[in-house]
Amino acid sequence: MGLKLKGYIAVIFILFICGCKQSKDQAASPDAVPEWYTNAFIYNLDVETFKDSNGDGTGDFNGLTQKLGYLDTLGVDVIWLAPFQPTPNGDDGYDETDYYGIDKKLGTDKDFQDFMAAAKKKGIRVIMDLVLNHTSSAHEWFKIARADTASKYHSWYVWSDKKPGDANKGMVFPGVQTETWTYDEATRKYYFHRFYDFEPDLNYENQQVRDMAADVLRFWLKKGVDGFRLDAVPFIIDLPKTGSANPKHLFNILTSLRKTVQAVKPDAVLLGEANVTAEENKDFFGQDGSRIQMMFNFYVNQYLFYSLAKEDPESLKKALEEFRQKPATAQWAFFLRNHDEVDLARLSKSQRSLVFEKFGPESNMQIYDRGIRRRLAPMLADPVLIRMSYSLLFSFPGAPVIRYGEEIGMGDDLTLQERLSVRTPMQWDHSPNSGFSTNRITVRPVISYGNYTYRKVNVADESADKNSLLTFIKELAALRKLHPEIGGGKWKILDAGNSNIMAIQYLLKGRQLIAVHNFSKAPQQFSLSLSDADGTAFKQLIGGSKEIQISKDQKIQLKGYGFQWYSAK
Ligand code: NOJ
Repeated sequence: MGLKLKGYIAVIFILFICGCKQSKDQAASPDAVPEWYTNAFIYNLDVETFKDSNGDGTGDFNGLTQKLGYLDTLGVDVIWLAPFQPTPNGDDGYDETDYYGIDKKLGTDKDFQDFMAAAKKKGIRVIMDLVLNHTSSAHEWFKIARADTASKYHSWYVWSDKKPGDANKGMVFPGVQTETWTYDEATRKYYFHRFYDFEPDLNYENQQVRDMAADVLRFWLKKGVDGFRLDAVPFIIDLPKTGSANPKHLFNILTSLRKTVQAVKPDAVLLGEANVTAEENKDFFGQDGSRIQMMFNFYVNQYLFYSLAKEDPESLKKALEEFRQKPATAQWAFFLRNHDEVDLARLSKSQRSLVFEKFGPESNMQIYDRGIRRRLAPMLADPVLIRMSYSLLFSFPGAPVIRYGEEIGMGDDLTLQERLSVRTPMQWDHSPNSGFSTNRITVRPVISYGNYTYRKVNVADESADKNSLLTFIKELAALRKLHPEIGGGKWKILDAGNSNIMAIQYLLKGRQLIAVHNFSKAPQQFSLSLSDADGTAFKQLIGGSKEIQISKDQKIQLKGYGFQWYSAK
């Protein structure tokens, strides 16, 4: 073959490679750090309440597959699926009866596989909730454990012959749950349950239980998932007999879970749910990053709400600073609202009172003596403040996570129990039951009254409106993809000389971005000084591309709750 022909073939080959549909992470800038989750936009949904394809009133995998185009347009990189295993649904699916199954109401194994294939085709990754801490009390293992104390399953759970002295301590759902050890008539023993009494904790001191967990991880990885949102991590690894209030933890379990995952799929991720301090968090990542790669940042979340309530970002800045250190391959997952309550337990009593007063003043809006069971839009109420909060979220130094319906500003239904208030069906359009289902009766009522009815808040209307919240979130997600420096760069909180303003600067391989947010409802003026590069020219990224020089002499104006992102030219 002549040299020319060889060259020609090489060029065609290169063009072919470049033209192939790249997955979203590959398509990112070459400056992006390699981990696909570093800048990922994660979208959490519950199949049950997302889209019903067969008219039985319950959402299903085929419905979700139909809506993948919507998620793709929104800019979603990763779908986090709420538990979809068989369940009596006492805790909205977090009470599972079969780790290996798919709840029949949500579809078949084939429906799940079709969904996975369709998501992959769109370049969207899928992570799934995994509830390793406990099973449902209706799980076969627990039934056998109760019926036969000599069976191997008995020691898969945590028992005590006598009622432990701290049985009325350490409840996760105070006010609803009265104890953590419950008497079982069949065995005449007490069993431990960190959560509801129908969610007995598994005993991770037992090697068989650890092997089971590893097996479950391998099973779902082989079905194609890209990782797990690990439920209740501190409680998987705690030793209840060392005291419910301040138990010892077996952190090496996390190291081995990570190894198990990586052996099957080297780039799969573990995203941990643990409401812990920065100091405690170090053990969850592992000093060398050998445990969980991603952790939800509950601490920053609570100080964010406090800062919003106080119209002063000081506490938020402090909280972010506390969490600055992390292993190079680890990442924070930031969120505004999730499927549970806004957990304010780490605030002082007076700080919490202020947040309650501002965002959840009625007792029916509060829950578990520590939180608020409302969706973001009704909580913050002001559309400008809502947008400012999302701008903050997408500009935090971690991966942004949002929950279905938040992108259109869905409301809550406070007539529903506990956290079900924020778990009503997705509002797609004006058709009866919001286009979620053609059935008259739905798994949970669709919001059909008041300011947040599906007739006023739905995807169809907001998709057609260039000023809608949905359009705004799409723009933020698109912008975020263009700026990997946010999740992967070095960050610094700049002094704005104005206590209402928060300004963060991001630097990554010659890229620079500055995000500014005004926490006050009144307009504010401030200036920023960039120590070594005062006077650098920046381009405004939100609402037009005006140019500005950032220097100590240049005054910047922001409207009440105003915000802006600037990128160095
Ligand atoms: C945390 C989950 O987010 C919550 O919804 C659930 O009730 C508990 N873990 C128990 O699994």
